[in-house]
Amino acid sequence: MNIKRICCIGAGYVGGPTMAVIAQKCPEIQVTVVDLNEQRIKDWNDSDVGRIPIFEPGLSEIVSETRGKNLFFSTDIDEAIASADIVFISVNTPTKTYGTGKGMAADLKYIELCARQIARVSTTDKIVVEKSTLPVRTAQTIKSILDHTGNGVKFQILSNPEFLAEGSAVTDLHNPDRVLIGGDVSLEGQNAIDVLVNIYSRWVDRNKILTTNVWSSELSKLAANAFLAQRVSSINAISELCERTEASINEVSRAIGMDSRIGSNFLKASVGFGGSCFQKDILNLVYIARSYGLNEVAEYWEQVIKMNNHQKNRFSIKIVQTLYNTVSDKKIAFLGWAFKKNTNDTRESASIYVADYLLQENAKISVYDPKVNFKQILFDLEQLPSKSSERKIQNVESAIDAYTTCKDAHAVAVLTEWDEFVNLDWKRIYKNMTKPAFLFDGRGVLDKINLEQIGFKVYKIGE
Ligand code: UDX
Ligand code: UDX
Repeated sequence: MNIKRICCIGAGYVGGPTMAVIAQKCPEIQVTVVDLNEQRIKDWNDSDVGRIPIFEPGLSEIVSETRGKNLFFSTDIDEAIASADIVFISVNTPTKTYGTGKGMAADLKYIELCARQIARVSTTDKIVVEKSTLPVRTAQTIKSILDHTGNGVKFQILSNPEFLAEGSAVTDLHNPDRVLIGGDVSLEGQNAIDVLVNIYSRWVDRNKILTTNVWSSELSKLAANAFLAQRVSSINAISELCERTEASINEVSRAIGMDSRIGSNFLKASVGFGGSCFQKDILNLVYIARSYGLNEVAEYWEQVIKMNNHQKNRFSIKIVQTLYNTVSDKKIAFLGWAFKKNTNDTRESASIYVADYLLQENAKISVYDPKVNFKQILFDLEQLPSKSSERKIQNVESAIDAYTTCKDAHAVAVLTEWDEFVNLDWKRIYKNMTKPAFLFDGRGVLDKINLEQIGFKVYKIGE
């Protein structure tokens, strides 16, 4: 199969960067990214590439190099699908908010809509690639819908989960640890796998491209995220123990990380993991395990989420307790809102939960994040199931820089590990705060001794 056109449904954090890199590495293939959301497509087409909707280091440069040449963003979904040889599905699969599996299972509504749309408009054979993280055996659903079109068009379904982490998407795409492609064991399935292998092998070493059956590929993605999240919950569990003893989490983390069997990544204690994937994927794993009657397996993984909720909660409680058991009408400055540094994504960010807790205690919150605007902050708070009341939302504001946010505050809480927070003029911040000036480092990035010398009362996670 000679690939001339690729279409990707979903211009989000996964679809956008992935297609930009494919377009960059395969100049003779026309790549079109489509989305239901017209504003999002408009933003991707902004003449100022600095204003595309997703912030990722290095992404604007690639878009400026390829957009209008072989990379296109469009709302004409039918046309893009109909003319493509390969269709990537990269739409979101949020946790269900209704019915069976509510709060646990993935909502596959969008995936099914995509499959039906592909079935409806296709007149030529296509390879359909699942890029979204999906429950194991979803490919079967897609296949069943596509195979019943009755118009003789043949589809091959591949699973090609994306392992990029936000904030380092471009580097991860250029230099992946591995690319995983799952396909049918039939000859047609293997041919489809080869087509995708040939695309990735333009820039990825052939021995880093792993091919498996579809189910292994789907499950590997959920398992990888569960293992990563489990490490964060494990180190966070130890951080609480450190605070009760005289151990220091950074020392413990370093000591265990140097064991080559354990390794040093994902051992940074924090206020809790966030992001669109970890919680959703683990809940998914738990739901699948339970649906096969594997209750112990389900409980084992569920504990990773419980530990994460506990970590967010205890950080919030710590703030209230330290501020003499009341934060009512006190200004608390938040440094950071994104779920980690170098991204403008806020989904499931620990900051949302900490803010919610403090708002319920009648605190006033001022937020500064270098890449997140006020509209997004309000949106995140309004999405919470506990939904802070109108009046409480009025207690939230955002500021143009860290100094304004911290002015007159009773406490500063570092919620995202942005580099710029480390090098702030902390003396200036201290001078303008209400005394005693409390500082809660939820990311363990600040120099506690130095800050204590300035006069701050410092709490650092795991110390
Ligand atoms: C999402 C999931 O979070 C992740 O688990 C999965 O692996 C890939 O999809 P992300 O790219 O970060 O990741 O999601 P998001 O930024 O929300 O982008 C999805 C896009 O799909 C949105 O722009 C949405 O408008 C679009 N969409 C959704 C469609 O175009 N059609 C639909 O039917 C549904
Ligand atoms: C994750 C996976 O890493 C990626 O492979 C998958 O494709 C999508 O999900 P992402 O959600 O972008 O990527 O972020 P990641 O870097 O994994 O961080 C997740 C959360 O864990 C963040 O809130 C981060 O701050 C937190 N974290 C990470 C810690 O608290 N400590 C650590 O040591 C590492």
